[in-house]
Amino acid sequence: MSKEIVLTGITTTGTPHLGNYVGAIRPAIEASRNQDVQSFYFLADYHSLIKCHDPERVNHSSMEVAAAWLALGLDADNAIFYRQSDIPEILELTWILTCMTAKGLMNRAHAYKAAVADNETAGSRDPDQGISMGLFSYPILMAADILMFKARKVPVGRDQVQHIEMARDIALRFNHHFGDLLVPPEAVVDENTAVLTGLDGRKMSKSYNNTIPLFLPEKNLRKLIMKIKTDTSPPEAPKDPESSSLFSLYQAFAGAQAVADMRRRYAQGISWGEMKQILFETINAVLSEPRKRYQELTADPAYIESVLRQGARRAREYSLPFLASIRHATGIRPIGG
Ligand code: TRP
Repeated sequence: MSKEIVLTGITTTGTPHLGNYVGAIRPAIEASRNQDVQSFYFLADYHSLIKCHDPERVNHSSMEVAAAWLALGLDADNAIFYRQSDIPEILELTWILTCMTAKGLMNRAHAYKAAVADNETAGSRDPDQGISMGLFSYPILMAADILMFKARKVPVGRDQVQHIEMARDIALRFNHHFGDLLVPPEAVVDENTAVLTGLDGRKMSKSYNNTIPLFLPEKNLRKLIMKIKTDTSPPEAPKDPESSSLFSLYQAFAGAQAVADMRRRYAQGISWGEMKQILFETINAVLSEPRKRYQELTADPAYIESVLRQGARRAREYSLPFLASIRHATGIRPIGG
């Protein structure tokens, strides 16, 4: 029996933070240990060009993301871990799919619509001001990422569900014209993964600039945790765990028993200062080993590079023959072939 294929991409802009860990990295690493699935995890570096035109940042972020996944325990012999730009077949497939995608479908993409709406609010005369074709056709590149490896299951955040549905539409349209080659994928949104709150009480996200980077030195981690916003209730007052960002962070890192105990302490009244200290110790205990490995890894970029190249070699065992059959189906083949 062939293994089920699970695939997901990580856009390489910015430094991985606690929210990425809890929402994406940790569940993906756990899933990759399941011997019944073949996971494909990749650095979506071509996606990062859509938003980021700073070469150093693009390059550095790929390194940080790769090192973070490895430091946190991704087994790259088991999962196929690669860099999108090392698989040229993905871009060839992107063009073929672009020719099978209705422009009207892309007009409906949330990211594009949001950019147009921003222009309208700003009173711009051109609704497409500052919008690149990369942003506009971003879902097609994502469809190619997925369809190239026949992934049925794509674990993503809720904001990406529309893109998976588009990949499905595109696959079905291709299949209708050229035969059943592509596997229509499905989004998997895990209702149980925690959405972390950030320093200011909103969802932890790099767009809000409220994140706690994963591999800060211990001292800086402590400092940032001490900065998390709380209300002004006095130390002894009973507190509501459900509305407390400190508690929600704690829940994402502590075991079930510890969380239940903490709930009791909230009811009795725990001071925010003490809670912050406990939270720091809890998070730090989870991260201190990975932090060491992360430092060793980033000191050895050649090693990270070799892991990614190895992943690319394995990925291309799938993508090369599959692209050949896709090209053949569309008539892109030797004269008389
Ligand atoms: N666009 C996704 C994000 O921003 C990342 C991504 C790129 C992806 N290609 C993918 C996710 C393919 C799943 C499958 O989160």
